[in-house]
Amino acid sequence: MMEVDVVSSKTGKSIVTFNNLTPKSTIYDVKKEYKKFSPKLPFERQSLRKEARGRILKDEETLSSLGFSQQAVLYFKDLGPQIGWKTVFLTEYTGPLVIYALLYTRPALIYGADAASEPRHLVVDIAAGCWIFHYVKRLLETLFVHRFSHATMPIRNIFKNSGYYYSFAAYVAYYVNHPLYTPPTYGKLQIYGGLAAFLIGELGNFSIHVALRNLRPKGSKTRMIPYPGLNPFTWLFHFVSCPNYTYETLSWIGFTVMTQCLPAGIFTFVGFYQMSVWSLGKLSNYRKEFKDFPRNRKAILPFIL
Ligand SMILES: NC(=O)c1ccc[n+]([C@@H]2O[C@H](COP(=O)([O-])OP(=O)(O)OC[C@H]3O[C@@H](n4cnc5c(N)ncnc54)[C@H](OP(=O)(O)O)[C@@H]3O)[C@@H](O)[C@H]2O)c1
Repeated sequence: MMEVDVVSSKTGKSIVTFNNLTPKSTIYDVKKEYKKFSPKLPFERQSLRKEARGRILKDEETLSSLGFSQQAVLYFKDLGPQIGWKTVFLTEYTGPLVIYALLYTRPALIYGADAASEPRHLVVDIAAGCWIFHYVKRLLETLFVHRFSHATMPIRNIFKNSGYYYSFAAYVAYYVNHPLYTPPTYGKLQIYGGLAAFLIGELGNFSIHVALRNLRPKGSKTRMIPYPGLNPFTWLFHFVSCPNYTYETLSWIGFTVMTQCLPAGIFTFVGFYQMSVWSLGKLSNYRKEFKDFPRNRKAILPFIL
């Protein structure tokens, strides 16, 4: 038997101590004990860490594998009310699709009755096609490709994430579909060059999502080191740990070049910044989790970041 002290990650004060666990007990066993102590708090809301700001421990990890033998201190945090992970993704991706499609198909609603009769430049149609394609792809991937390891996430995420996607969709769509929108300076060369980059980015992003799916057997939470495969798009794994984010960035650079629209550029930059922060975190987690993780891999930009 060993002593497991569960302390608050916010205050550092002890919440409860368990004396009936052993080094072979798992984090899930600790959570079961915590559930007895606090029956109203669902499992999904419990998070345990080894350090107050460390990573969330997995249910299947044993106390001995975490380096504890006679005594353990675990930091507890209530993750707050939870919502299904898929629900969050489906909500946050449907919004941008509907908002953009509305501004594209019903310009009179926003810009006045005359807007409906204004001739539209080819690039406006192509941009709408790209935007809609991107979000339909994401919805389908959420339903049929991704194998998420968490069934739920904090409910506040749905407001935060949806706010981000909905407002950027409205911002970009408002300017690209505006009757006074001016097409790109270098005409078809710029439009088709941007479109090519967008499509390469989408194909690459999809290829990486399929590669990540294949790392995880159905129904499991397994995590493995992703390696380049036969599909040339996966070769970017030689250089970065999150090539899906690299390809996503390429797509939006293509969209920005094609439309030559500042709001699209701002959306690309903000998305890139967010994905850079995440990919740096993921790279550091990979290095902690896998001792043999390839050392030369960067996070999102080959050789640079
Ligand atoms: N434009 C933007 O601002 C923006 C921002 C964020 C995301 N996105 C898009 O949304 C997509 C999905 O984002 P995400 O952040 O969920 O991507 P992600 O963290 O790379 O995960 C994608 C899927 O692969 C799984 N996975 C990742 N690494 C794995 C590994 N080593 N072994 C086994 N499975 C692994 C993940 O499972 P887990 O559930 O275990 O993580 C998840 O189901 C991105 O690729 C990007 O296209 C766009």
